[in-house]
Amino acid sequence: MSIFICFIFLFPLFLILFKNLSPPKQKLPPGPTGLPIIGNLHQLGRFLHKSFHKLSLKHGPVMLLHFGFVPVVVFSSKETAKEVLKTHDLETCTRPKMVATGLFTYNFKDIGFTQYGEDWREMKKLVGLELFSPKKQKSFKYIREEESDLLVKKLSKSAQTQTPIDLGKALFSFTAGIIFRLAFGQNFRECDFIHMERVEELVLESETSVGTLAFTDFFPTGLGWLIDRISGQHSRVNKVFSKLTSFFQHVIDDHLKTKQRQDPSDLVSTMLDMINKPTKSGSLKITSDHLKGVMSDVFLAGVNAGVITMIWAMTELTRHPKVMKKLQEEIRTTLGSNKDRITEEDLQKVDYMKLVIEETFRLHPPAPLLLPRLTMSDIKIQGYNIPKNTMIEINTYTIGRDPKCWTNPEEFIPERFINTSISYKGQHFEFLPFGAGRRSCPGMALGITIVELGLLNLLYFFNWSLPEGMSIADIDMEEVGALNIAKKLPLELVPTLHHS
Ligand code: HEM
Repeated sequence: MSIFICFIFLFPLFLILFKNLSPPKQKLPPGPTGLPIIGNLHQLGRFLHKSFHKLSLKHGPVMLLHFGFVPVVVFSSKETAKEVLKTHDLETCTRPKMVATGLFTYNFKDIGFTQYGEDWREMKKLVGLELFSPKKQKSFKYIREEESDLLVKKLSKSAQTQTPIDLGKALFSFTAGIIFRLAFGQNFRECDFIHMERVEELVLESETSVGTLAFTDFFPTGLGWLIDRISGQHSRVNKVFSKLTSFFQHVIDDHLKTKQRQDPSDLVSTMLDMINKPTKSGSLKITSDHLKGVMSDVFLAGVNAGVITMIWAMTELTRHPKVMKKLQEEIRTTLGSNKDRITEEDLQKVDYMKLVIEETFRLHPPAPLLLPRLTMSDIKIQGYNIPKNTMIEINTYTIGRDPKCWTNPEEFIPERFINTSISYKGQHFEFLPFGAGRRSCPGMALGITIVELGLLNLLYFFNWSLPEGMSIADIDMEEVGALNIAKKLPLELVPTLHHS
């Protein structure tokens, strides 16, 4: 028998053997068909959370997309979020390296955008101790109360003249006043190198720079680099970054000049001490890049989310006068009618306000996609293989509107949180305004205190109405933003003093 005949007989056998020996084909998640090179980028609109929402209704809660050459899996249900953030937290808790996040964090020397590992742990521990610990929170209580007084004073002036006030500006000044005094030891209302309005612009510009997709991140070196330069993205981001760096330098120089600070031991002072003394935080030697990286985190993550929440809460309350009435009656009955000042003890007494805040978080999570994660090894979720180095997005916007978890999900009904154990603390995966797992928000307690304090001051001392000629139907609900999603048009309301 010739070799040829042997081959004819043995060939099918080889095929079967080869098929059994070759690795099984991976079952990847479903997703919309993309185009060569750009993948699914052409299917994304202005807001990623809304584009993902629409696509996931068709393709399901585990959906594979391609941003250029980068695979991205979007999770859009309570169950899949739980699998990522709880079951596979350790394998998914690093952050992707992106051009803008690398730049704004001084080469990943921060907490929020840096990769998982020993340095991230050390920085988180240090900032946790200096900014977020219960002891620090207690010692800075007077700052929050002083800023509350200033807010009430400012609103009282508008109430006297019955002029509409841009609540976004008032609440930014309140929140930034607190956060920057805690972290930077500085009150930008009385500062000679920057004005509060400019700080607000810089926060928004920095957030947009970090949150906007850059082609360099999704295309092979060269091509993406070129597109970002031609489109102006590169120069826009770098311009904002250099403004931010020079602002941080002013804050640092001011600390070095002024030894005697008004507010004791802010984060910048503590870190400057660590830089100047040859001390280590665990295995980490703190440098000025770590200091500026953390300042960036405070700038990008610390201020706007709280302001956005308070604005959405006041917007929804204005759109739902019955809820507003019930809330103000509850607050005023519980706290009595002759208080000069809201204290933090009062925050524990106003249960319905907490429900209003929770419902606001459900419908308007400030960071609807949390922050992106990256798989550090191959994982399997709901039977789908998610390979190592896949970018992960959790769409809390979709989860908060999932009819399987929420009745009448598009409606603003704070009462839905009565008699449930569901809380925002990261154990209930249908409700994740602060994320969950290792990368969840370390500023949660501080953020919540500021939101509760701001709203309670607004709602105890003032009644609120729309400017003349405007009705509830005229309230615009359009969104704006990239990293954080805010109400696009300013919320202007007229305050009237309740106890005049
Ligand atoms: C209402 C207020 C706030 C909300 C809704 C909020 C929400 C969030 C969310 C959704 C994340 C991403 C979590 C994830 O990826 O799983 C986050 C992370 C973070 N937040 Fe907040 N936040 C608030 C206030 C604050 C404050 C006041 C600070 C600091 C001053 C802060 C600092 C951070 C940092 C450093 C991270 C990154 C954590 C990490 O990656 O390890 N946040 N926040």
